[in-house]
Amino acid sequence: MRRVLTRLLKRQRGISALLVCIELAAAGALAQAAKPQLYMGVAWYPEQWPEAQWDQDLDLMQKAGINVVRIGEFAWSRMEPEEGHYDFDWLEHAVDIAAKHGIYTVLGTPTDAPPAWLTRKYPDVLRVDANGQRAEHGNRRQFSYASLRYRQLCRRIVAQMAERFGNNPNVIGWQIGNEYSEESFDPCTRQLFQQWLRTKYKTLQALNRAWTTYYWSQTYDQWDEIPMRPDHENPGLLLDYRRFVTSVWCSFQKDQLDVIRSHANPRQFITTNFGGLGWTDRFDHYAVAKDLDLASWDDYVGEGHLNPYRNGFINDLARGWKRKNFWVMETQPGFVNWAPISNSLDKGEVREMAWQDVGHGADCVAYWQWRSALNGQEQYHGSLVGPDGEPLPVYNEIRQVGDEFSKASTVLPGTSPVSEVALLHDYESRWAIDFQPHSTAYDQLSVFLDYYRPLRDLTQSVDVVSPYAPLNSYKVVAAPSLNIIDAALAHHLAEYVEQGGHLVLGPRSGMKNQFNALNTQRQPGPLVHVLGGRVEQFYALLNQAPVSGEWGSGEARIWAEMLSKLSPDAQVLMTYGASNGWLDHQPAVLTRAFGKGRITYIGALLDDNLMRACVRWLAQVDHLTPAFGTVPENVEVCPRENAERRVFILLNHGKEAAQVNLPRPMRDVLAGLIRSGQLSLPPHGVAVLEENLR
Ligand code: GAL
Repeated sequence: MRRVLTRLLKRQRGISALLVCIELAAAGALAQAAKPQLYMGVAWYPEQWPEAQWDQDLDLMQKAGINVVRIGEFAWSRMEPEEGHYDFDWLEHAVDIAAKHGIYTVLGTPTDAPPAWLTRKYPDVLRVDANGQRAEHGNRRQFSYASLRYRQLCRRIVAQMAERFGNNPNVIGWQIGNEYSEESFDPCTRQLFQQWLRTKYKTLQALNRAWTTYYWSQTYDQWDEIPMRPDHENPGLLLDYRRFVTSVWCSFQKDQLDVIRSHANPRQFITTNFGGLGWTDRFDHYAVAKDLDLASWDDYVGEGHLNPYRNGFINDLARGWKRKNFWVMETQPGFVNWAPISNSLDKGEVREMAWQDVGHGADCVAYWQWRSALNGQEQYHGSLVGPDGEPLPVYNEIRQVGDEFSKASTVLPGTSPVSEVALLHDYESRWAIDFQPHSTAYDQLSVFLDYYRPLRDLTQSVDVVSPYAPLNSYKVVAAPSLNIIDAALAHHLAEYVEQGGHLVLGPRSGMKNQFNALNTQRQPGPLVHVLGGRVEQFYALLNQAPVSGEWGSGEARIWAEMLSKLSPDAQVLMTYGASNGWLDHQPAVLTRAFGKGRITYIGALLDDNLMRACVRWLAQVDHLTPAFGTVPENVEVCPRENAERRVFILLNHGKEAAQVNLPRPMRDVLAGLIRSGQLSLPPHGVAVLEENLR
């Protein structure tokens, strides 16, 4: 009835407000439809349970403070049991009854798990791995992301869903697919790759030049001679292959985006959940996130415990995908089922992690999953309720988070972290280094964290953004290993320096151009004229090399570059001691004032003490200050702000209680009182402090 009414009204103009009212009333829409809030969610799979049980599940969710469920992302066989026969009544019922419990829905498109009838009828849609093995039914992700037929089948089911739910007031958003990951190496995809190259290079001559194919007689005379491999190939081909993969995911996503947007009310956001623990680089996340309304990611620890720097850094990376707040679409309620040892987080750690996510800009934290399916591959995974439908031990901790999110919903919505410092992160540079690491010890996440830890400790807020992002608001921009710098990027970075910024480049910067070919100028390539210096030679280190100078004495490890001054006003900040003979007494760090700003090149991976000293030096030179003030070790400060207020989320990641001195009186949002002086935080402790800026 509601749908009929909705469709009728939609045909007429100027009645959209009325339409919304009728829709809201008819659907029993949530009263607070427009109210901004912090969301806490779960992945819920109603298709796996008799409808008679849903109410009990939703009742327990509501009691835990859950206000959003994600539904549907693997339920294709339930939505379209036979080709062209759709059944969405159960889904609509699930959405409706969730709403009755005050819970919104994010609908997942089910395209990560095609039904068996589909792959039997259209076996050509099945993915082929890099060894030529075709996938079978029985697992998920068995489809070829490039298959035109598969895309068409996806559009069809998504159109049906969007028509049915695109104006449902209780559906607040859409998730396309689930954790884009597997590529396909079938002949059609290879042809598409060759076409993609043809569009890009126009002539084989241009491609051969860009890839330097005289090397090993790789010269191509026909487009269809070009192989498609994910590794052990020409670096030019490999970089283009990753760009191609990115473009295929973009168009896979765009297909569904267009269909949803053509049917859905624009208030429904569209996202996808990035997987791979946030750090995966199978495609360029900036490019794929560009078309989405909202970025989201799946935050799992796996084996071990919350690593605050790693988790903080990845959340900051996620915030950088669209340079705005994001959602944590999945996280573990205690433990996973896929780690070598799937241990549980300790009591209190699930809450600590949720608040850390929010502190770094998450506006939703959603647990995977509510309840384990009775069968299927993930029976051992952590969940909130057991197979009996009753709460598991972690439920109460999550209920506490729900209660706290509700209190904080008065102050956190509309606020975001703001930073004076940014780290530049670039998928192309990461690919280029990982194709030829030159030292297996050169782990790029560790390299990022070497910079991130002291910067975060000192400033208490760091952005992680693409090098192509606007940079002018930052006092310091550090690029730990920006391997690919072409003329255009060099121009952007030089302009930032000229206008007063401080650009800090780490080792391996500026070695390659946009074709992943060596720059003909030594590193940092097109920025040599800004630095007034260059890299004479790089060395993968077996043993540490001593370094000393402005930042004290310590060691270079894993990687060291011999630098030289070309311009008299370039200054040597650090020098190598005796090591392999080549590096002895040679410059390790150069700095130079340029325009209104400064550029610094750090030619080695430095030990933790030196990196801390480096950041103290940056703080002095660039007037960096902590957002909150000094706090004890292991206490993390996460500031979020808007024009009206600043909110500090304080977290004690240590094993002992910590005493924090408040710089000014502030309102303790969770305790509901004004605090001044000292605040005591127990291990895993959380405080949310608000100050008014008006
Ligand atoms: C995620 C995936 C979920 C579930 C979860 C288990 O990567 O998106 O569907 O499998 O892992 O940890």
